[in-house]
Amino acid sequence: MPVPVTVHTDFCLRQLNTFGLAGRAAAYLPVTGQADLQALLQQDHLARYRAMPRFMLGGGSNIILTGNLDRLVLHATGRGIAVVGETADYILVRVSAGESWQALVDFTLARAIGGLENLSRIPGSVGAAPIQNIGAYGVELAERFHCLTAFDLDSGGLRSLDRAACAFGYRDSVFKQELAARAMVLDVTFALPRRWSANLRYAELAAALPQGARATMHEVAAAVTAIRQRKLPDPAQIGNAGSFFKNPIVPLQQRNQLLQRFPTLVSHELDGGYAKLAAGWLIEQCGWKGRSMGPVGVYHQQALVLVNLGGARGSDVLALAQQIQADVQARFGVQLEPEPIFVG
Ligand code: EPU
Repeated sequence: MPVPVTVHTDFCLRQLNTFGLAGRAAAYLPVTGQADLQALLQQDHLARYRAMPRFMLGGGSNIILTGNLDRLVLHATGRGIAVVGETADYILVRVSAGESWQALVDFTLARAIGGLENLSRIPGSVGAAPIQNIGAYGVELAERFHCLTAFDLDSGGLRSLDRAACAFGYRDSVFKQELAARAMVLDVTFALPRRWSANLRYAELAAALPQGARATMHEVAAAVTAIRQRKLPDPAQIGNAGSFFKNPIVPLQQRNQLLQRFPTLVSHELDGGYAKLAAGWLIEQCGWKGRSMGPVGVYHQQALVLVNLGGARGSDVLALAQQIQADVQARFGVQLEPEPIFVG
């Protein structure tokens, strides 16, 4: 029995992106699982949608709509979280792509399973988390990842990808590269440590927990939540897409030259002769923190976040982003690269 599948046309996306930008999708299909995608590829009445360029949508917390989308939007909406196994060292938790990230964090903490507490309160869905390898407060998704199931829209089959196959990098993965618009993540399996210890590598988090290594996973989650609430706008109140730029990675030599000219530059050394610069610091030094340009602004507590002051359009966001990039380039000779995906 084929599953009935309805594609919606001329579908409004404003409620489906956390920046709150207007934009309509030529076609929109909610995807609860594999059967919906198989139907898309096989059913005759859906043939015209198969031929359209595609865009995969998760929680919409990392996209900037620059206009209407002349594409088929595939929106991951499947639900379900379960412990699916244990090894000597790990507890395996499998999660459907449409679950919210925080629902997963809550599920694990309620069962005293640690490992995700540093990633508390990150907006977005579980299926989108591997796409940009979300990370915060000293932990990246890649460190807690076991495998995922994706549907390959080119071959029409399922694929299981392990950590190596996902090619995780800083806010990057194979899903932003070779598999973009081709593989849709259906579920993700996490490997969470059975023997937990607090990860307080991030100095600001350590400072918030005077009990140090004795802090419980719930205390770490509460501290991360408090830091985020202080610095980052809640998308339910003020439209935003989290960090708007990546922290630029430059050769150590360039960082050292910058440090001579700007002794308060915030940066940290990476392996292999590189350093990561704090983009928020660069933007703040250019005077942008708390400033606005039309209906888009730079958040007053964190210069790396652009916010919708009300009624912003994608073109307004682009204009501000380009102005910030130009100012940072002129002053520091560093090119800022946007972190969200621009579509439209
Ligand atoms: N800073 C400033 N001015 C600012 C903002 C930051 O001077 O306006 C300096 C401060 O010295 C601060 C340092 O930059 O200590 C780092 O700032 P913060 O701890 O706020 O982190 P971030 O580099 O701005 C990154 C991630 C965040 C993640 C935090 C915590 C990226 C692009 N952003 O931000 O991730 O939550 O670290 O780990 O890597 C996201 O990707 O959307 C995101 C929010």
